[in-house]
Amino acid sequence: MIICETKQELRTFRKSCRGTVGFVPTMGYLHDGHAKLLETSIQQNDVTILSIFVNPTQFGPNEDLDRYPRDFERDHQLAASLGVDCIFYPSVDEMYTTESTITFDSGDMANVLCGASRPGHFNGVLQVVTKLFHLVQPTNAYFGQKDAQQLALIESLVEAYDFPLSIVRVATIRDNDGLAKSSRNVYLSAAEREQAPRIYQALVAGKKVYEECASVKETVHYVQQELGKLTAARIDYVDMLSYPHLKKTEHAKLYVLAVAVFFEKARLIDNILIERV
Ligand code: PAJ
Repeated sequence: MIICETKQELRTFRKSCRGTVGFVPTMGYLHDGHAKLLETSIQQNDVTILSIFVNPTQFGPNEDLDRYPRDFERDHQLAASLGVDCIFYPSVDEMYTTESTITFDSGDMANVLCGASRPGHFNGVLQVVTKLFHLVQPTNAYFGQKDAQQLALIESLVEAYDFPLSIVRVATIRDNDGLAKSSRNVYLSAAEREQAPRIYQALVAGKKVYEECASVKETVHYVQQELGKLTAARIDYVDMLSYPHLKKTEHAKLYVLAVAVFFEKARLIDNILIERV
């Protein structure tokens, strides 16, 4: 496995690749969710490239950029054991070498769910993902359904701007008790960790209520109430929108039922896809 810390090293490695290239962009502190993306890429491609970069442009001023968990040695070992071919591990200065006044506007799909409570977040995500796609030039790029809005926006970017690659969706990996794996789960206290699986329980209960003929509006209200009963966490949002277009409607074929909650030091998100009954 090779580690590239500069864009030039990555370009040289990329030129040497034969066959299909799978790409898994991450912010590191790898867990089983990231591992699933990597395993899927390794299965489906001749070469797999992992990027580890905590991207400052997608964090708001009062968010967790400085304390975002990092452990390159552990990530390195995990990637090597899985059979990753290359890790792109640039510094912030390497990644953002030139100042640019051109900015991204992620549009209406970024004004709902996480985008509504994290202004500018998805502009930063689309900016870094665009740069990474140009540097890595993958055949296939792998993203988790855990970040359903991010995935939908990246699919929309790729389609709208004719990026020559395919996006592969990977289902959410969970702990045995249902909690979605996340690098941010390390922020939870023991008591919060006990409560956190109830987020997923509330989503599963919401899906059942919808399937038993509740409207979208009633389902959202039900999940809000369930979450309120189940955890002490403060609700950021609960919403149910068409997927992947993220529109408020009672007539979609597929929905995403999504929540975000604040525990003391962690903001956790989760979602579940629901087909129209
Ligand atoms: P990060 O949070 O490190 O996630 C990297 C990828 O892993 C994303 O596609 C995310 O959806 C996926 N992932 C995270 N938890 C998962 C889980 N429990 N099951 C399945 N997949 C999971 O998302 C980012 O980084 C950044 O925004 C990035 C795209 C790298 C741009 O900076």
